[in-house]
Amino acid sequence: MRNALIVGASRGLGRAMASLLLKRDHRVFGTSRQRGAFVAPPRGFVPLQMDVTDEASVAEALDEVAREVDRLHLVMHVAGVLHEGPMAPEKKLEDIDPAFVQKAFAVNAVGPLLVAKHALPLLRHDERAVLANLSARVGSIGDNRLGGWYGYRASKAAQNMFTKNLAIELGRRARRVIVVALHPGTVDTDLSRPFQRNVPPEKLFSPGDSAARLLAVIEGLEVTDSGRYLDYAGTPIAW
Ligand SMILES: NC(=O)c1ccc[n+]([C@@H]2O[C@H](COP(=O)([O-])OP(=O)(O)OC[C@H]3O[C@@H](n4cnc5c(N)ncnc54)[C@H](OP(=O)(O)O)[C@@H]3O)[C@@H](O)[C@H]2O)c1
Repeated sequence: MRNALIVGASRGLGRAMASLLLKRDHRVFGTSRQRGAFVAPPRGFVPLQMDVTDEASVAEALDEVAREVDRLHLVMHVAGVLHEGPMAPEKKLEDIDPAFVQKAFAVNAVGPLLVAKHALPLLRHDERAVLANLSARVGSIGDNRLGGWYGYRASKAAQNMFTKNLAIELGRRARRVIVVALHPGTVDTDLSRPFQRNVPPEKLFSPGDSAARLLAVIEGLEVTDSGRYLDYAGTPIAW
């Protein structure tokens, strides 16, 4: 049996990824900020409480994992924020609210870094392991043609830099760990719902479809792929 941690498993892509991994005989640790988020969790699923903006809660959740297993084969950071309550992605400069930009950075960039920090002891073992951070194509600086969404774009660009840095460091310290940034496509979830109007139906993936594509990419990764920024088809994205 293989062990996976899905950070942000309560909704959307993370929930779909968790159920896919359970079907593939993984033990899945899945997180939400809410303690009661997982009603009647299926066999093999271990619910955890974690807010990635609070390092103590990240540390506590990883301690809980370590009490159950001595290694993780997959850590997937799915948790992310594009809008929350009155906070929405900026269309123009005048829309900038520093609190929202900081929130996006705390969840989307610093969050995965803290998870990596506390998951590292469980990733350093003699088997293949993958640390996959859910990024977004809009985090690409090279591919930015439309502008807007300042906080989200920049937080994902910062996340990408952290992912690349981690790949370099773990290449020295934990050679069997493959670290990647992944773009899931446009997926029909709470996060994308307000922005789906102009997305052609064939370009809007269901969470299950996107999760299956991402898992195929993850399963095909080799150690030499560590540090790459890939989409759901395994195609590299410009940084
Ligand atoms: N959907 C898309 O089209 C799309 C496109 C490109 C990239 N992405 C990326 O893919 C990832 C998943 O997106 P999604 O569409 O599945 O989003 P979603 O349906 O909104 O789910 C977001 C998840 O993140 C968790 N989360 C939010 N804030 C958190 C925090 N502070 N600490 C811990 N967990 C937190 C939520 O858990 P609780 O609320 O239960 O705590 C939830 O499980 C995100 O990183 C997103 O940026 C999505």
